[in-house]
Amino acid sequence: MSVAHLFLKACFRQPTPRRPVWMMRQAGRYLPEYLATRKRAGDFLTLCKTPEMACEVTLQPIDILGVDAAILFSDILVVPEAMGMELAFETGEGPKFAAPIRSRADIDKLADPDPEVELRYVMDAIRLIRKELNGRAPLIGFTGAPWTLATYMVEGGGSKNFALIKKMAYADPQAMHRLLERVTDAVVRYLSAQVAAGAQALQIFDTWGGILSKADFLEFSLPYIARIVQGVPRVTPQGERVPVIVFVKGGGQWLEAIAGTGCDVMGLDWTVDLAEAHALVGDRVALQGNLDPCALYAPVDVIARRTRAMKAAFGSGPGHIVNLGHGILPDIPVAHARAFVQAAQEQG
Ligand code: CP3
Repeated sequence: MSVAHLFLKACFRQPTPRRPVWMMRQAGRYLPEYLATRKRAGDFLTLCKTPEMACEVTLQPIDILGVDAAILFSDILVVPEAMGMELAFETGEGPKFAAPIRSRADIDKLADPDPEVELRYVMDAIRLIRKELNGRAPLIGFTGAPWTLATYMVEGGGSKNFALIKKMAYADPQAMHRLLERVTDAVVRYLSAQVAAGAQALQIFDTWGGILSKADFLEFSLPYIARIVQGVPRVTPQGERVPVIVFVKGGGQWLEAIAGTGCDVMGLDWTVDLAEAHALVGDRVALQGNLDPCALYAPVDVIARRTRAMKAAFGSGPGHIVNLGHGILPDIPVAHARAFVQAAQEQG
């Protein structure tokens, strides 16, 4: 069975000889090869916008670690940038928008980007990656969930208490919904273009869905995720089904609601009990995750033991894609990442 089949079959809960594995943020700073390419690019955004270099770093974890899926190298924030927001990544400080969204007038000024124009470099990267992968592994495209994108657009960068976005949601919910609608429309076009360009699976990252109460998650995040899941063509130009993975960090209490979006796979963070999740929604969706990324600080034998324990918690049956519960951290030794991948790929 080809590796492409292994990952895609697991997404559709079809039996596989072993479980597939990949890692969120697998193309990143823990790899010396990534740091070398980024240095050549000069900065992170130039790396994202140069298809040849984005392709190179996308393939690095396939060649170096032998993971079973490639994820497009880009960032969730290129969509707000394409909507007209000036974006910078300052080393050590994370992303910054020069002029965050604070009013209805700011929302009305946002553009409706054409993915083949303003985000052409992403589509060119996808086309090139598919060619270079040549079937060695399937390619996952991705987006941020509208709520998560909106948090960065309104806060202007990272945040501790998310007071600004919550102020908009609670003081002017109509404006909040207007912004979420505009972002959702842009994301549906963006993911549709990714599939047309060659993405074989899609992941929606709702990194900040978990900061909301259940009622607010159901009002401000989940319906927009559902609109994306239902609005994107779920089949490649060649007629193959395209699975959609929804990852809500901190969404462990809302698994049934998330499964209700119609996604094929649910990404789980490490706070979720995999056995309980499997019993609760395993008849509807495949599950992806969920080792604590900090567990990779342990010695390699402990990493292997914890990875096997996670697989045992899922139990038997198809539909488990092994992953971390969030992105791999920049100071993890490559040998530790490899111990995780190897334990995940053991049969049984
Ligand atoms: O998974 C992959 O390997 C694909 C590439 C990818 C990146 N960002 C590259 C990146 C993906 C899927 C993302 C998604 C992303 N970006 C999310 C959602 C996933 C998550 O981690 O919660 C979010 C919230 C962002 C926004 C973002 N980008 C932040 C907050 C930061 C700074 C924090 C950090 O890790 O440095 C980034 C920068 C970023 N995106 C880097 C990489 C490899 C580091 C940039 C560098 O090289 O210095």
